[in-house]
Amino acid sequence: MDDAIAVRDLVVDRGGRRVLDGVTCRVPRGTVTGLLGPSGSGKTTFMRAVVGVQVVAGGTVTVLGQPAGTPALRQRVGYLTQAPSVYADLTVRENARYFAALYGRGRGEADRAIRDVGLAPAAGQLVATLSGGQRSRASLACALVGEPELVILDEPTVGQDPVLRADLWARFHAMAAAGTTLLVSSHVMDEAARCDRLLLIRQGRLIADDTPAAVRAAAGVDDLDEAFLRLIRAGEAATTSTDAAATREATA
Ligand SMILES: Nc1ncnc2c1ncn2[C@@H]1O[C@H](COP(=O)(O)OP(=O)(O)OP(=O)(O)O)[C@@H](O)[C@H]1O
Ligand SMILES: [Mg+2]
Repeated sequence: MDDAIAVRDLVVDRGGRRVLDGVTCRVPRGTVTGLLGPSGSGKTTFMRAVVGVQVVAGGTVTVLGQPAGTPALRQRVGYLTQAPSVYADLTVRENARYFAALYGRGRGEADRAIRDVGLAPAAGQLVATLSGGQRSRASLACALVGEPELVILDEPTVGQDPVLRADLWARFHAMAAAGTTLLVSSHVMDEAARCDRLLLIRQGRLIADDTPAAVRAAAGVDDLDEAFLRLIRAGEAATTSTDAAATREATA
């Protein structure tokens, strides 16, 4: 029972298309796991399935030992959606206190979450008046304020400057060291390199589930950016040849 997330043969259809196609993977507790893949590959959909807000067509998703979406998990799982989800007509502090209350936490935790994302100077500001990067950090504060055991963060560092990104990643690792499990999606390779483990998705299928070092070794190149390109292209070449074979078979 060392896995925070265990996914078996997960299939999801959206808009009449297969978006996740038999994904099987595990996320060990107390780690920072990166979820990488091209735009549209299914990262957000995967996270939604873990949080339990996605209708699935097949497979199982077990979160902290229970089926995803079980009401008891609500207090134990934090979710940062890709688009900031905070109340524009409330201040940062009011938002954090509201979400803290939902998790049975108080003002102290709200203030701490705001500090942790570097928003203390803007705590009294209406969310509507924040910059884009500030707004997404306000959303992040609200996702973390309940100190959930499992934290699902959909592109948490988009729009942040390098200093803030480094601070946030230090925070993520401190949380993992204290036992929290983090699943973090990103498009940025220097962030992938900071993860304990990586899940790489391409067109709804998992093409890597390993440590950054093992992903580099599998691709035969040191640069993680290049390693991903190679794995993605190798996957494309394999799909193309399968498609060609299927076409030959269909037309034979
Ligand atoms: N509500 C929806 N209805 C129909 N199709 C959808 C819906 N949401 C997402 N999709 C499709 O599902 C696929 C996976 O989308 P998803 O949002 O999971 O990708 P992603 O990897 O998170 O991409 P990005 O990096 O751009 O955030 C895409 O082809 C997308 O167009
Ligand atoms: Mg997404």
